[in-house]
Amino acid sequence: MTKPVILTGDRTTGPLHIGHYAGSLLNRLRLQDSHDQYLLLADMQALTDNAHDPAKVRANVIEVALDYLAVGIDPAKTTICLQSHLPALADLTLLYLNFVTVARLERNPTIKDEIHARGFGRDIPAGFLCYPAAQAADITAFKATVVPVGEDQAPLVEQTNEIARRINETAGRVILPEANALIPKAGRLPGVNGKAKMSKSGGNAIALSAAPAHIRKAVQAMYTDPGHLRVEDPGQVEGNVVFTYLDAFDDEVATVEELKARYRAGGLGDSVIKRRLEDVLQDLIAPIRSRRAELARDPAHVMDLVREGTARARSVTDRTRREVFEGLGLMML
Ligand code: TRP
Repeated sequence: MTKPVILTGDRTTGPLHIGHYAGSLLNRLRLQDSHDQYLLLADMQALTDNAHDPAKVRANVIEVALDYLAVGIDPAKTTICLQSHLPALADLTLLYLNFVTVARLERNPTIKDEIHARGFGRDIPAGFLCYPAAQAADITAFKATVVPVGEDQAPLVEQTNEIARRINETAGRVILPEANALIPKAGRLPGVNGKAKMSKSGGNAIALSAAPAHIRKAVQAMYTDPGHLRVEDPGQVEGNVVFTYLDAFDDEVATVEELKARYRAGGLGDSVIKRRLEDVLQDLIAPIRSRRAELARDPAHVMDLVREGTARARSVTDRTRREVFEGLGLMML
């Protein structure tokens, strides 16, 4: 019996953080036994908004691979591969660009938000505008049906399915399956400062490799309820980052609910909930950090795993490219 295929990935722009962990790494860990899973180190996609800094994109290939392995991604079950070394992805991207319009790319909510957030305006790099087609190539080249991502990525899976349908229609038969985004119920974690999203560039993230002192400092500085001035004041739980993180990472749900009730009623200080969150995060990150440090002592071994994974992925993606080109009736040599 063949297992359903998962394809997902991360841009290699920085080490992963606890937002990635809650957002999609947990799903990837949970599903690696029951699925044929591929994780893409998306260095080409990273260049779409980092063309000025290829050294950063290169350096973070191993950082992201280390994060995967440190959280428990098992290379015997999950194939870790390097996007820039899968030429079929580039070929399919170029092909798919003929099956989307600029207007549709500009309407993609993920792209729209990012154009706005980065202040690109009309000076958007063409590669960035077109990355939904590239992401469609990533997903379909593996014939993935499950894509574990954060909720911001859902419109990209939507657009992938549109392209797949168009290819299938043109070929007159189903070559590419449609994919489902697998999005965690909790939604996206806000940054430690309460700003919409956790990101390394926003300086509001806690890395999976964070040192104990950094975790402590980040929790201390964390946004709570600005109206909760004295311990005896009633406090707000909604929008309170400490409670949002406790919901995401504290397994003792009943205790957290009790703390929320006490906080709302007044009489529970920020220092108490912050101490609890700090303990939870220190416990979560400590084993990841130590496994990561262990693995980082042998970078050649990590790169060997990436090389082997990429070779496996190359045969899968080359096969799909051939099927698609053939299915469309293009000249084959
Ligand atoms: N866009 C994803 C991110 O921002 C990375 C990525 C590249 C991806 N290709 C993918 C995710 C394919 C899911 C499927 O991190």
